[in-house]
Amino acid sequence: MSTQRVLTGIKPTGMPHIGNYFGAIQPALSLVEKSDALFFIADYHALTTLKNALEFKTLSLQVAATWLACGLDTQKALFYRQSDIPEIFELHWILSCVASKGLLNRAHAYKSLVEANELAQKDSDKNINMGLFNYPILMAADILAFDTTTVPVGVDQKQHVEIARDIAETFNSQFGEVLVVPDLYVQEQQQLILGVDGRKMSKNYDNTIPFFADMDVIKKRVMSIKTASLPVDAVKDPDQCTLFSLFQLFGNEADIDMIRLRYQQGGLAYGELKQLLYDQIESFFLSYRERYFYYMDHPQEVVELLSQGASSARKIAAGTLARVRQSLGLMTV
Ligand code: TRP
Repeated sequence: MSTQRVLTGIKPTGMPHIGNYFGAIQPALSLVEKSDALFFIADYHALTTLKNALEFKTLSLQVAATWLACGLDTQKALFYRQSDIPEIFELHWILSCVASKGLLNRAHAYKSLVEANELAQKDSDKNINMGLFNYPILMAADILAFDTTTVPVGVDQKQHVEIARDIAETFNSQFGEVLVVPDLYVQEQQQLILGVDGRKMSKNYDNTIPFFADMDVIKKRVMSIKTASLPVDAVKDPDQCTLFSLFQLFGNEADIDMIRLRYQQGGLAYGELKQLLYDQIESFFLSYRERYFYYMDHPQEVVELLSQGASSARKIAAGTLARVRQSLGLMTV
């Protein structure tokens, strides 16, 4: 039986927040025991939008330190930087020669930028760099270079994985069964984590709770969670409340039941629950924070771990590339 190989990329574009933790980090790490797992920092993907060297460097270190601090065990999973694997970029070119342009014209991210330009009566490709257009091909190369069988992603990345499958199938139909066609694994009841304003937690909405920020920043964020304006005594609906939904992520079952009851009976002050939530967040991330700041203070150790991961990962990618090159008919002596 062939083993399942799970791979996922993390784009370093913002300070990790609670939505990332429960939506991506925790579910991905839970797969490590069951499968052969590869996690990588998709730094070259971030380059489509990031143009500041210091910011790029800091975000890449933050995201690596976050995953290590949250329990990524580099003895059990491969952890590396995309930019350390030249085979990915070689494969990217090869794949771009089999992918149809029309397929990429239909990619959501590109399409919505084009539509926005057209709506504003601007040139349809205004401010769109080729990296953004090719983004899905690079992602296909990330996946296919490692004979990945399963790609766990959030719904927003579903189309990208479908494009990777499509490209792998096209390649195989032209050159033989060379590439593994990956399965998409959209986390079933992917939890929707709400931000402090009640919309999905996302750095684009500036409504996140970044769990490694200064404690007073976290406190301010928690205190700013939007609630209904009801008096303390009023009966409240816990299932319509952003604050309660966030509390449910941290509280134990007994606490959650107790708070639910107090919502339903009246008498719960939002300020009290905010304080409780803040305390829970503090204790939940306490040991992670220690490790995170350790890694942030020792970037050389992080780079060392990532480099070791890259050298193991490159061996896998080199094997795939050897098959690919041979199937293409590249001349060897
Ligand atoms: N595009 C993904 C995101 O924005 C990151 C990513 C890059 C990725 N390459 C990948 C995810 C390969 C899964 C597999 O989050």
